Amino acid sequence: MRCVIDYRKPPELCLPAVFSPDAIRLSSARRDIEEILADMGYRLQVCTYEDWARLQDFLAEIYEPQMLNNFGGFTLYKALRFGSGALLETGAGKIAGYILEESFRDRYDSSYCQGLVVVPEHRGRKLSVYLERYNFLQAMARGAKIRRATIAPTNLPSLVSSLNHNGTIADGIHPYLDFEQTPRLLISMPLTIEAMAANRLDISKVPAFLKARREGVDYRILDPTDAEALIDLFHLGRFQIAAVLKPGIASEGSALLALSNQCLQVSFDRG
Ligand SMILES: CC(C)(COP(=O)(O)OP(=O)(O)OC[C@H]1O[C@@H](n2cnc3c(N)ncnc32)[C@H](O)[C@@H]1OP(=O)(O)O)[C@@H](O)C(=O)NCCC(=O)NCCS
Repeated sequence: MRCVIDYRKPPELCLPAVFSPDAIRLSSARRDIEEILADMGYRLQVCTYEDWARLQDFLAEIYEPQMLNNFGGFTLYKALRFGSGALLETGAGKIAGYILEESFRDRYDSSYCQGLVVVPEHRGRKLSVYLERYNFLQAMARGAKIRRATIAPTNLPSLVSSLNHNGTIADGIHPYLDFEQTPRLLISMPLTIEAMAANRLDISKVPAFLKARREGVDYRILDPTDAEALIDLFHLGRFQIAAVLKPGIASEGSALLALSNQCLQVSFDRG
């Protein structure tokens, strides 16, 4: 299976790729995120196997039984034992969110996301952006070169956080991955500080970009609910999804922005 291992979103669509020389040290980049969240009243800590029972109780509270089959016991065990994760707590010590990832010993020591949740009363503060970014750094410290995840094309908060704010792309789709038999976009991120800095979208730059480039050649606009069009897009393999566009930018509702492989300077591997 062909998959993407590197890309650069066009600079004219992105925030400036600045990062402090300190950020090169993964531990200090992680500390920066912990400090930002501490200023917001949260405590972010690395998950360890010691957190198994507590997390199991939390997952049983937030997930329906069928979802627990996907994210409960075995998954939790594998991620805590062989992967990495983080817990976000309130000042009162209640879990406000978590992320867990499993590591694989493939060519890229890929880190695969096995769950990312912010509980409803704490949503709306981009906490998932920090959780995901924090785990990029943890996975990198474990030696992972690529981070992968799956997200439903209609899960817009999750896609905005990951594609727009953290610089990931969708490089494929699985038509019926979960128990609901709904499609899932396959998310990729090369794990380097440079890629993390260079691929974050500046949404204010999108209208000028769309005006300057050619639809159908450089980019395509897709409806997140149109599974057939998304499956066709990845079947042809000439475009990858790079961003979510807010209503009114390219269509009446939210839209997905796909960029050509050339625009994204994509490098492929058989995966
Ligand atoms: C996905 C999730 C973690 C995001 O939580 P969060 O970090 O609080 O996200 P926010 O509410 O701050 O939203 C993040 C971004 O999505 C945007 N957004 C939220 N709802 C949206 C919608 N319906 N349409 C378009 N954009 C939306 C927000 O505006 C924000 O972007 P902006 O800052 O550029 O405006 C949370 O919704 C959740 O736990 N969902 C259930 C579990 C889940 O789906 N996990 C991911 C599985 S892959």
